[in-house]
Amino acid sequence: MTSIIADYEFIKPSGSKQLAARDRLLVESLRPGKPENYPIAAEYPLVLGPAMPENSICVTRKGVSPEDGGFLAHANLWMRKMAAGESRAGMPVVKLALVGNVATDKNEQGKGWMRTLLGEIEREARAKGADAILLWSDLAAFYAKMGFEPGGSEFRIMLSAKELRRCGRPMLWVPDGYRTGQLPVEMIQRMLQLRSMGFNSPFFQVERSVEEFVELLKIPELALFVGHGESTGTTAPGLRPVDFFFVVGKGMDMQGVIHEWGTIDMNLLMGAAGVVAEHGELDEIMILVPPAIKSARIAALHRASKRIEQHAMAWVKPLNPETKPLVERMLHEGFIWGLDSI
Ligand SMILES: CC(C)(COP(=O)(O)OP(=O)(O)OC[C@H]1O[C@@H](n2cnc3c(N)ncnc32)[C@H](O)[C@@H]1OP(=O)(O)O)[C@@H](O)C(=O)NCCC(=O)NCCS
Repeated sequence: MTSIIADYEFIKPSGSKQLAARDRLLVESLRPGKPENYPIAAEYPLVLGPAMPENSICVTRKGVSPEDGGFLAHANLWMRKMAAGESRAGMPVVKLALVGNVATDKNEQGKGWMRTLLGEIEREARAKGADAILLWSDLAAFYAKMGFEPGGSEFRIMLSAKELRRCGRPMLWVPDGYRTGQLPVEMIQRMLQLRSMGFNSPFFQVERSVEEFVELLKIPELALFVGHGESTGTTAPGLRPVDFFFVVGKGMDMQGVIHEWGTIDMNLLMGAAGVVAEHGELDEIMILVPPAIKSARIAALHRASKRIEQHAMAWVKPLNPETKPLVERMLHEGFIWGLDSI
């Protein structure tokens, strides 16, 4: 039985004191007992960053200043578009409301605050024209209760370092400057282009600008690798060629997992993953793979795999019966990469 004993209101925190109160709630609820090596906002630069107050929604007791009483609950609402990477005229687009950093103050849990806040999130998502709400969580029972269902799908492939060694050793390096936003624009554009290659067409992805990619690559505990094969085209005159890239880890999430990648050739990426595994003295390394991958590529991954699991990609709540089939199709034929999921 849940009961809300006080009047409440929704607030989008702003100003340093309110943002600090929000971050305190998030750290205490989502990172209990974990060392705070960096501010939680650094892990979600596009939703918690100071320039993004629109994306945070908190519940507070009416009449109690959040600076004094703190917030009761918080969730992010991040509006994104999903479309075919080639953005050809006439191709469909859906609006997705991505939800994350879902947390209720530890002394206030079980009183209905999150049910109330998710109701507000849904109201705002509808007002912004969202076709569906999506989120990522292990709390299956809770989100099923909140009306979400598993949607889309992904392969989680555990690759054997020993088998990857058979794929050769491409040129591989950690590009200077991605942690401080100093990567050449041409390299970022090249990575966005590579991310669309080798999948059945149309391949739907969440749209991401160069500027957004630059910010996402600054997330702490994230490693970016790029490289090339023997004979290739170049990104731009004077720059080294980039035939593949991959991202491992992001903050406290996805450590040891290749959650975003692109390549002209699966063997190059696999050889590079083998080098990274060897360097980290790992026997195996996990890669997340869109099911829309071309069959020759999945066969190559299969040969080096110890284990392949297929999972739902996200929790989904469709908001519009008319676009529900389109959302389902796009989630199955496309993919939401690790840096887009919050
Ligand atoms: C999970 C969490 C967000 C739920 O918030 P809350 O404010 O306590 O939830 P509510 O009181 O609004 O609960 C709504 C309903 O869900 C149920 N529920 C709450 N937590 C649940 C859980 N972990 N598993 C299953 N059901 C749950 C409640 O019993 C309630 O059911 P009822 O309406 O039938 O009585 C909160 O417990 C929390 O912050 N946990 C720690 C951080 C976390 O795990 N966040 C989620 C990351 S995705």
